[in-house]
Amino acid sequence: MKFLICLLALSFLNLTASSSRVSAHGLEHKQTKDFNIDIVKTVVVGQSGATDFKTVQAAIDSIPSGNNNWIKIQLQNGIYVEKIVIPTDKQKIIMQGNNPSEVIIQYNNAGQAGSSGTITVNAEYFVAINVTFKNSYNNITSLVPYKELNVAPSIVLMADKAWFYGCSFISVQDTLADFVGRHYFKKCYIEGAVDFIWGGGQSIYEKCVIYVKGVTTDERVKSGALIPGFITAQGRQSEEDTSGFVFKYCAIKGDGMAYLGRAYRGYSRVVFYATSMSNVIVPQGWDAWRCKGEEDKITYAEVNCTGEGANKQGRVGWDKNLSDRDIAFLVNAETFIAGDGWMTTLPSSLASL
Ligand SMILES: *[C@@H]1O[C@H](CO)[C@@H](O)[C@H](O)[C@H]1NC(C)=O
Ligand SMILES: *[C@@H]1O[C@H](CO)[C@@H](O)[C@H](O)[C@H]1NC(C)=O
Ligand SMILES: *[C@@H]1O[C@H](CO)[C@@H](O)[C@H](O)[C@H]1NC(C)=O
Ligand SMILES: *[C@@H]1O[C@H](CO)[C@@H](O)[C@H](O)[C@H]1NC(C)=O
Repeated sequence: MKFLICLLALSFLNLTASSSRVSAHGLEHKQTKDFNIDIVKTVVVGQSGATDFKTVQAAIDSIPSGNNNWIKIQLQNGIYVEKIVIPTDKQKIIMQGNNPSEVIIQYNNAGQAGSSGTITVNAEYFVAINVTFKNSYNNITSLVPYKELNVAPSIVLMADKAWFYGCSFISVQDTLADFVGRHYFKKCYIEGAVDFIWGGGQSIYEKCVIYVKGVTTDERVKSGALIPGFITAQGRQSEEDTSGFVFKYCAIKGDGMAYLGRAYRGYSRVVFYATSMSNVIVPQGWDAWRCKGEEDKITYAEVNCTGEGANKQGRVGWDKNLSDRDIAFLVNAETFIAGDGWMTTLPSSLASL
C-alpha cells in the first residue's frame, strides 16, 4: 500500500513537472465563446412545477455512466435536504443555481470525515456555480459551544479537477474536506471554526471570503471566552507531495478567532497571498500541532497580506519567507494546479466568470 502511494505521488509529480511553465496569464485571459456552447444537455431540478427531477441525487443518477460530455444540472431556488454522492463514473457535471443564498443543499450528519459530508464528489471534472453546500449539524447562528463541535463536512472532494464559482460552504468543523486532487475555487464563501479547510488537496482559493465562526467555552454564558479555532489543516505528507492550499486576494473575517492553520501532516503547505485579514487571526498565526520540533518541514507563508490580522509581529518565527520564484509558481493556477491544462478544457463560458 505504501509502495502504491509512492508510485501515485511520483506520477503526479511527473505530470505537473513536465508542463510547468511560468506565466502571468490566468484562465481569465482565454478567449471566451458563447455561454453554454460546450454543454450538451441541461436537466432541471426543482421541488415544484414542471422540472425533470425533484431531487439533486435523481438528476445525478440520470447521468450516463462514463459520461464524457458536459451536462448541466440546473437547480431551481429551494432548500434541498439531501445527502448526495457523485460516483466516479459520472464525470463532467456542472451544478448551477441562480444565487447561492436561494439554492441550498443541506444535510445533518456528523462524525465521519469521509462519509458525513452533505455532498461527496468521487468523479473528476465536477463544476459547481452559485450553490450553497451546508452541513446543518451545528445549526447555530450565534457562538458555538465547544462541546458541540463534531466532524461535519459540507463537501468531501475525493477526485481531481474540480472547479467552483460563487459557491458557499457552511458548517462549523471540517467544513470543506479538500481531501485529494487539484481544485480551484473562485469568489466562494467558506464558513467554519475548526480545521474548516482541510485535507491533502492541491488547491487555489481566489477572491474567496473566509468566515471564522466563534466557538465559546460555555454554552450558557453567551459572553463565555472565545476559543481559537483553525482555518486550515493541510495534509501534505512528503517533500515530493505536490499538494497545498493557496489563498489569493481573499478576505478573512468573522466573529471568532483562529490560527491561519495547523499542520495536519508533516509537510503541510499553506500560502496566503494578498489577502486581507481582520483581527480574528491570533498573533502567533500558525500551529505545528503534532509536528512540534519538525517545523522546518512545514511551509506556511504570508505574502503581501493586509489588515490587523496580517501583522506579523507576534508570529511563530518558523513561517517561511518564500522566494519570488516559488511565490509566482504557487499563486499561478497554470503552474500550481493546472500544468497539464485541465482548466482550459472546461466549458469556455466559465472563463468569463
Ligand atoms: C451568481 O449569483 C449572483 C447573485 O448572488 C448573480 O448576480 C450572478 O449572476 C450569478 N452567476 C451565475 C453565473 O449564475
Ligand atoms: C436551522 O435553524 C433555523 C433557524 O432557527 C431553522 O429555521 C431551520 O429549520 C434549522 N434547520 C435545521 C436543518 O435544523
Ligand atoms: C508585494 O508588494 C510589494 C509592494 O507593493 C511589491 O513590490 C512586491 O512585488 C509584492 N510581492 C509579490 C510577491 O507580489
Ligand atoms: C523573513 O523576513 C523577515 C523580514 O525581512 C525577517 O524578519 C524574518 O526573520 C525572516 N524569516 C525567516 C524565517 O527567515
